Amino acid sequence: MAGRILIVDDEADMLLLLKRILNEETTHEVVTEPDSQKALALFSQSPFDMVITDLKMAKMDGIRFLEAVKQIRADVAVVIMTAFATIETAVEATRKGAYDYITKPFRRERILMTVEKVMQWQSILRENQALRDALAEKKGFAALVGASPSMQSIFERIRQVAPTMATVLITGPSGTGKELVARAIHEHSRRGQRKMVTINCTAIPEHVLESELFGHLKGAFTGAWQDKKGLVEEAHESTLFLDEIGDLSPTLQTKLLRLLQEGEYKPVGSVTTRKADLRFIAATNHDLKADMEAKRFREDLYYRLNVIRFELPPLKARPQDIQLLSYHFLEKYARLNQKEIRDISPNALKALMAQDFPGNVRELENVIERGVIFCRGDMLRVRDLFLEDAQKRCEAEPDDELAQLPFKDAKDRMTEQFHRQYVQSLLQANHGNVSRAAEQAGIQRQYFHRLMKEAGIEADGYKQKDER
Ligand SMILES: Nc1ncnc2c1ncn2[C@@H]1O[C@H](COP(=O)(O)OP(=O)(O)OP(=O)(O)O)[C@@H](O)[C@H]1O
Ligand SMILES: [Mg+2]
Repeated sequence: MAGRILIVDDEADMLLLLKRILNEETTHEVVTEPDSQKALALFSQSPFDMVITDLKMAKMDGIRFLEAVKQIRADVAVVIMTAFATIETAVEATRKGAYDYITKPFRRERILMTVEKVMQWQSILRENQALRDALAEKKGFAALVGASPSMQSIFERIRQVAPTMATVLITGPSGTGKELVARAIHEHSRRGQRKMVTINCTAIPEHVLESELFGHLKGAFTGAWQDKKGLVEEAHESTLFLDEIGDLSPTLQTKLLRLLQEGEYKPVGSVTTRKADLRFIAATNHDLKADMEAKRFREDLYYRLNVIRFELPPLKARPQDIQLLSYHFLEKYARLNQKEIRDISPNALKALMAQDFPGNVRELENVIERGVIFCRGDMLRVRDLFLEDAQKRCEAEPDDELAQLPFKDAKDRMTEQFHRQYVQSLLQANHGNVSRAAEQAGIQRQYFHRLMKEAGIEADGYKQKDER
């Protein structure tokens, strides 16, 4: 999808060059402006997906420009251009929220690759936002995402069903989002302003569950010191979400049927019935039909619940969702963990797509959360995901991005990386003494200086405090 790019640099030649490259190779709309203050005004007047700005500019420099545009629109992707000597500042810029930086002079491919990546990321963000907006008209839940046709049609049906009072049954394997769908339906119903009340029907002994659901009167059983309101009463005029309904005991199935049919219930220990105005949503990972046929689940209750049915497919059946969900969870956990991880490497995405995920979306969510915690760079890589077979495949591809570059670019990148690390470790070992570092490396002092300059490294940073 074509986007809009604003390019700011007080060198007119650079603006011309960039504009030409982008116009030749992409369909994005390119706006150039040599004056950073004017550029800021332009930016505030119309929406841009991406900003490319020079670092050193006469009026407002790149970092201040970055801060200013981020204040106007936090989600814009800003790429900083800089010469080798100021690479440290560029690193600082990424800490301040720049998406990436490009060193000048740059190769045509480098700029095009960066632009494409930014635009891809922006379009995923937009897509996600559009889905959320479509579902949650203004505010509300923003948690449910999905790009697959099956999820899209679920969103569509949520919108249709939510405003009605119809009872909804949500089925599907564990971790596929049943609870989220229940929440979405409730939040988009006319009862959405009230709290949805959830009762989990598993793991609670029958008599406890009954009193939880319907409440009890004082003295109904030992330990019932006073009257207690049940969840049914609490959910009056709102939605009651019966989670794991397949685990309900036969006695409670009967009592629930009455509530569904007549809107009536009796608190434990009471002889009189009470009325409740409820909207019901139920969920289960059981095959309720099979349970019914095996006489484990009441037939009449089954048909009462099964008015509107949502069947959530396993994640394996909707691979189109994996990328969107991965980015969704990346954003969530990067924010939670205050980490600046902006992307998932192409290989990591490939590895995720190749997984089975028996635990469905919940499992994918866990994988990404763990990945974010272990990730050391600004990109989630295969090694961060700890997927067993992906690890093996990954050994043949040590750096997933490298393989996408032409040989010369890949070599330049590795050489640059090598120079930087080598120079840093020598300076470290020699406490910032350049002559000794050069001697240890067996190269001329002047050459060592040149390497330092190219990598933007200064010896001072390696001197011990008393030597400075
Ligand atoms: N479409 C989705 N978009 C975003 N997050 C999702 C989606 N589906 C599931 N999740 C996330 O996955 C996790 C599991 O979802 P949820 O609890 O709704 O599953 P469930 O079907 O109720 O599972 P179980 O049967 O085990 O109770 C949650 O953290 C939820 O936020
Ligand atoms: Mg659940």
